Amino acid sequence: MVEAVAFGKLILFGEHAVVHGQPALAVPLKALQATVTAEPAPSGSGLQILLPDVATPLRLETHDALSVTAQMVLNHLGVPEPDMVLRLTSTIPLQSGFGSGAAVSTALARALSLALGHRISREDLNAWVYEVEKIHHGTPSGIDNTVIVYERPVFFIRNQTLESFDIAKPFELLVARLGYATPTHITVGDVRTLYEHDPAAIQPIFDQIGIISRQARQAIESGDLTPLGHLMNENHALLRKLTVSDNTLDRLCQVALDAGAEGAKLSGGGRGGNLIVLANKNRAAVQEALLQAGAVEVIHTWVDES
Ligand code: PMV
Repeated sequence: MVEAVAFGKLILFGEHAVVHGQPALAVPLKALQATVTAEPAPSGSGLQILLPDVATPLRLETHDALSVTAQMVLNHLGVPEPDMVLRLTSTIPLQSGFGSGAAVSTALARALSLALGHRISREDLNAWVYEVEKIHHGTPSGIDNTVIVYERPVFFIRNQTLESFDIAKPFELLVARLGYATPTHITVGDVRTLYEHDPAAIQPIFDQIGIISRQARQAIESGDLTPLGHLMNENHALLRKLTVSDNTLDRLCQVALDAGAEGAKLSGGGRGGNLIVLANKNRAAVQEALLQAGAVEVIHTWVDES
């Protein structure tokens, strides 16, 4: 039996503007992971993909995201359908802005190729997972697959070569999960419509978010994290203007700030999903306040390079 994993991801700065050419910062979220095991199966049984709590296995003919991923791996390796069971488990909540889709595809491609005795390059894997992301997200920027496949902090600009960034001084974040979500393709589509109706008003918002991402990178690389909280708050205000926040996200950001956090912003597609909070001084109080205010879970994570 072989086993492969892939971590979730967190977008720190720049979501949505990244779809329109601005830089974004994202890091692996190692607290959450998807795991796929591969076991040989009786001759003639073909490839079966077992999902948690789903009785019927997926097969190559199903044409869902995971079987499409498996088919891409088989095509690339030039091998016929193997007799094999791929079993998926994942601690990454679906549609929460943690890159669940990209992570399960990545873990599956890794497990399948390992079981077939091949190592696939990160470049190939990244390209396939991006293709699969397009099935769900319409016009994804590619940030999810990139950070998940490379397992590195990324300074991501669409259609440009991968750029990582250094984390001079590791820092801690709280990640509050709201327990509901809006599909990313909806919010991305709404932002596109907003832009198409009034590019002169929306382009400066994208540009300003791009400036914030660059300033945040500089702060993280220099180890002087003082500006980070303020940059998060500014980024959240701009995401509000793009209409991708909602009352709950705004309320919980304010709750975190009132309880002593230095910064808070939505992370990912928005209108639900999750928010990230920088709370160096009053972390326990902030965590408690977020739970009291309705967050279904508050995850504590380190942002570092390990
Ligand atoms: O739903 P998420 O966390 O994967 O958000 C994706 C981030 C967006 O910038 C909104 C879309 C994209 O493709 O980059």
